[in-house]
Amino acid sequence: DMGGHDTYMHKEIVEQVEAVDRVLRGRIDDRFATVRLGGLNLEPGEARRVRRIKILGCGTSYHAGQIGAQLIEELARIPADAEPASEFRYRDPVVDPDTLYVAVSQSGETYDVLAAVQELKRKGARVLGVVNVVGSAIAREADGGVYVHAGPEVCVVSTKCFTNTVVAFALLALHLGRIRDLSVSDGRRIIEGLRRLPGQIDEILKAESEIKALAKDFATARSMLFIGRVRGYPVAREASLKLKEVSYIHAEAYPASELKHGPLALVEPSMPTVAIVPDDELLEKNRAALEEIKARSGRILAVAHQEQEKADHTIVVPKNEHELDPILMGIPLQLFAYHTALALGRDIDKPRNLAKSVTVE
Ligand code: M6R
Repeated sequence: DMGGHDTYMHKEIVEQVEAVDRVLRGRIDDRFATVRLGGLNLEPGEARRVRRIKILGCGTSYHAGQIGAQLIEELARIPADAEPASEFRYRDPVVDPDTLYVAVSQSGETYDVLAAVQELKRKGARVLGVVNVVGSAIAREADGGVYVHAGPEVCVVSTKCFTNTVVAFALLALHLGRIRDLSVSDGRRIIEGLRRLPGQIDEILKAESEIKALAKDFATARSMLFIGRVRGYPVAREASLKLKEVSYIHAEAYPASELKHGPLALVEPSMPTVAIVPDDELLEKNRAALEEIKARSGRILAVAHQEQEKADHTIVVPKNEHELDPILMGIPLQLFAYHTALALGRDIDKPRNLAKSVTVE
């Protein structure tokens, strides 16, 4: 049932307001400025002994894991990184007893992720799951984890599960942080930020007609560049994947800092750039990148917290805490990908060559 929407993708984008509310519900502990995660199965003493966190997933879940790794480093100060599960399992990785492994999967059935989990468990590693589908193969195989509670996602192109997965990582990062060295006041600050998310998502969705007009305009491009820096980089990567999957327009994501090391050669009027420009400590650096692009007559669509002078268009999103900004900045670009695909007459819920869950190698 599409509930009055023309596609599941549109329905699922709009549903994010309630979905984010659901992943938070019942988990916030105001007294200790932390969150309670019932199924984590990780004692405080164990959480304190973790030396590294390695996050494994595919596609959109991998991108959510990249933001998750940054959240864990920022809030819990545990070295963390994300890697495609398929790469991990084929490169004969060194499995370290002090590393906590986290498998991320919407469906909980992605074969490459499941195989990585099974290999890790065989070697005695501790593996948590960040999974949407309750009781799925990866959820059963993991030692514990965090359910994403996004509700069923039908569209092959993942939207609400991405957002909820990132929020689930914010909860995990806050939980680990408060067992380790995150202060009560920082814990409170993050909790207040989390509580603002549903209302802010609602606000972003109100920009749909503006985004639709932009998407129509950009739909004639043959290729697009997506750039971001640190917190904005995984957002750029996910937005680039969304556009490719659903519109079939070629897109490539780069860290803004890497522009001058090659991709700047691509910039000219027919190659637009979508830039993630959060109002954080890297704002001036990001503005300098926009200037470089403008100097080569590139068109720029910025997603930012304030109007960007060098951009041709800015989609202004509400500001949250720096750490949580990536959760919101991807949402207008889900709508952008959707409306680009709509303008091009694509099969939005079932893009060619793709399946909802990839249960083969
Ligand atoms: O079910 P999973 O989260 O494990 O799926 C992983 C990827 O196959 C999936 O995210 C894919 O990239 C989507 N089509 C993205 O929209």
